[in-house]
Amino acid sequence: MTDQSSNQMWGGRFAAGPDAIMEAINASIGFDKRMAAQDIAGSRAHAAMLAATGVITDNDAEAIREGLLTVLSEIEGGTFQFSTALEDIHMNVEARLKEIIGEPAGRLHTGRSRNDQVATDFKLWVRDQLDAAEGGLLALIKALLSQAEAGADWVMPGFTHLQTAQPVTWGHHMMAYVEMFGRDLSRVRDARARMNESPLGAAALAGTSFPIDREMTAKALGFDRPAANSLDAVSDRDFALEFLSVASISAVHLSRFAEELVIWSSAQFRFVTLSDRFSTGSSIMPQKKNPDAAELIRAKVGRIFGANTALMMVMKGLPLAYSKDMQEDKEQVFDAADNWMLALAAMEGMVKDMTGNRESLAAAAGSGFSTATDLADWLVRVLKVPFRNAHHVTGTLVAMAESRGCDLPDLSLADMQGVHEGITDDIFTVLGVENSVNSRMSYGGTAPAQVRAQIARWQEILAG
Ligand code: ARG
Repeated sequence: MTDQSSNQMWGGRFAAGPDAIMEAINASIGFDKRMAAQDIAGSRAHAAMLAATGVITDNDAEAIREGLLTVLSEIEGGTFQFSTALEDIHMNVEARLKEIIGEPAGRLHTGRSRNDQVATDFKLWVRDQLDAAEGGLLALIKALLSQAEAGADWVMPGFTHLQTAQPVTWGHHMMAYVEMFGRDLSRVRDARARMNESPLGAAALAGTSFPIDREMTAKALGFDRPAANSLDAVSDRDFALEFLSVASISAVHLSRFAEELVIWSSAQFRFVTLSDRFSTGSSIMPQKKNPDAAELIRAKVGRIFGANTALMMVMKGLPLAYSKDMQEDKEQVFDAADNWMLALAAMEGMVKDMTGNRESLAAAAGSGFSTATDLADWLVRVLKVPFRNAHHVTGTLVAMAESRGCDLPDLSLADMQGVHEGITDDIFTVLGVENSVNSRMSYGGTAPAQVRAQIARWQEILAG
């Protein structure tokens, strides 16, 4: 006699139901209910295919279709009663379907297994997230392009080691992030194309003896083709790992920009003013306006990397085909996806709203001997001094200016000629910050004309 409390889906060979702790460790419904829409879409495609291939009758398929729509509306309307005893979203949906339509519900699981079902649902879910990430990245890139356009010729200091290096343009700096988020966008698209094979119909691991049509279900669910090996199809989580890897690299970019915004918005820098909408105040220090959104983006990167590492660890060393370990794939991805989307949206909002402080940027651009390289280059170009010697001469002049507490253009011609007699008045033309950036016309360089060319290239890419 089978105990009444044993599982109605798979309890046939069980005499007793699970221990409460077994139920707690086994159940995934607490989180996999997020895949309800995908689960129902997969079941609808599967039922339609079973009817088309003559495995079930059209009447049963129609009852299943109608019933699944009812289940979906109950879930969307918040009236669906989720049961932990029914483990996961797949069995919750099927059990409710049985309550609604009776016997035909029992035919839905013909020629499939929860193993291909969960792989299909999860892939559809991750695919939606890649689409959302694509939208978020595009919006962020557009916001950066607007900033770049507005300040294509604003001068600011460029840094290496966070020490003033050479003057650059605001537009050039914004466009650096356009390149980074642009690569994220292309990784998102690559990942989506690679993952788009349907596991449905791989069944438990070996395929099925029913005459199913996997091309048909693949097409119905927007996949390019069915996955070609049933063992691989049920045990592949590369798509989730790739999602997390792409998210992690994008999170690196987000965190670097977030860090710059934290630095730039400080009273010591004043390079940007963040909007009130993306800042917070302090409950004790009335003067404070804190860049919390940027700080949180910088921090959220940790959980995205964590998710990537965690799923790599779950998957490493698993034998083929399905193992229950793989149920641990979802929460990591859900959390990383939520936080990646939020970080993208917050960054877009901040970038759209922020004001670059042109004067502060220009003042900082001229300080810190930022045109020293221009001086050295002048010695090379005009006086044919070898670059190493020019570097040394310039270093001597920087030391002189530093000891006098002034900048390079403040030194007199006589001072300069004292260090290198060939220097003429012409030197002062290259010590100006504007001249410096205008001269960097090499492809990809910081000259406003180059920056505008790159903005135009990106606008074309986005329009195309
Ligand atoms: N909830 C399970 C998961 O997320 C579904 C697959 C269960 N398959 C099985 N053979 N127990 O992986």
